[in-house]
Amino acid sequence: MQYRRFGRTNWKVSDIGYGMWGLAGWTGNDQQEIERSLDRSVELGCNFFDTAWAYAAGKSEEILGSLVKRNPGKKLYCATKIPAKNFKWPAKSEYLLKDTYPASHIVEYTEKSLTNLNVDCIDLQQFHVWDDSWADQDDWKKGIEKLKKEGKVQHFGISVNRWEPDNGLKALETGLIDAVQVIYNIFDQNPEDNLFPLCRKLDIGVIARVPFDEGTLTGTLTKDTVFPKNDWRSTYFVPENLIPSVEHADALRPLIPKGMTMAEIALRFILANDDVHTIIPGMRKLKNVEANIASSDGKRLDESLLMKLKEHRWDRTPTGWSQ
Ligand SMILES: NC(=O)c1ccc[n+]([C@@H]2O[C@H](COP(=O)([O-])OP(=O)(O)OC[C@H]3O[C@@H](n4cnc5c(N)ncnc54)[C@H](OP(=O)(O)O)[C@@H]3O)[C@@H](O)[C@H]2O)c1
Repeated sequence: MQYRRFGRTNWKVSDIGYGMWGLAGWTGNDQQEIERSLDRSVELGCNFFDTAWAYAAGKSEEILGSLVKRNPGKKLYCATKIPAKNFKWPAKSEYLLKDTYPASHIVEYTEKSLTNLNVDCIDLQQFHVWDDSWADQDDWKKGIEKLKKEGKVQHFGISVNRWEPDNGLKALETGLIDAVQVIYNIFDQNPEDNLFPLCRKLDIGVIARVPFDEGTLTGTLTKDTVFPKNDWRSTYFVPENLIPSVEHADALRPLIPKGMTMAEIALRFILANDDVHTIIPGMRKLKNVEANIASSDGKRLDESLLMKLKEHRWDRTPTGWSQ
């Protein structure tokens, strides 16, 4: 496993971290395999774990808390998230701060996360949604100041909305935010335009999330894929999204070197960017943990292949189903 400095936190984080959304709240879970997968990731050197209160109302946080307890001698960085008070995804500019992140709500949900994770201090507490119209207001800053003063949170971060990488730049300029989590993958390259340069300038930790475009970039979805009704992906991969997503993924197939999978090339594309400090693929299976962590070997993709992959940038804008 390779490690990178996580911006001004100065943490050394594994360049492959662990996305924990699917572990609670998605369908088709095998709890024993999930535990084995998490344990294996730690054995292989993974030390950065991303969860959220909203992942099954604290259940995913509890799973992370147990992992930390099972590994008392190892530093595992725990990143979680505060849902907005109105529980709406994504944030919108018409939502007022008092209905999303007033100080009292930030404190209340951090206390819940501390209990679920069973820790005294959260390494990274993130705003699960964000709108920069709140950046100039004071109440969220008071919440941050109180929790840091009490030693309950070490660093705060923002998880920026899907396909809105610039909706958080003002918040970063406040100096209160030490990390940003953003969708970055072969399709979604737009954080390179403004967000990554600002993070570089301010020395902010960068987490690349959704490296497989929620599954399309593993090459396993087809135009006929159907998700169970109670799985959120049934509302996301509507035909309007699924069909072009599969077409965009299929267009990559001729570029994949022999012996490499689409998932591997997807991770290696992101690893080639030094502006990213850790990638958090969603993983529920042992074989996926082993395959994904194997791509953290310090070997870079060939520059000419990287250039060809860059041509597959696909700029999308938020819409009714994008969440
Ligand atoms: N707003 C936010 O803050 C937000 C939103 C979305 C995600 N996130 C974070 O980002 C993480 C990653 O996003 P995600 O899980 O939604 O999407 P993702 O990482 O793009 O894709 C996850 C999917 O990829 C599959 N997969 C993983 N490794 C694979 C491999 N080597 N080969 C084939 N398939 C593989 C998983 O399989 P299985 O189905 O078998 O597990 C899962 O279906 C989340 O877990 C969460 O921590 C945050």
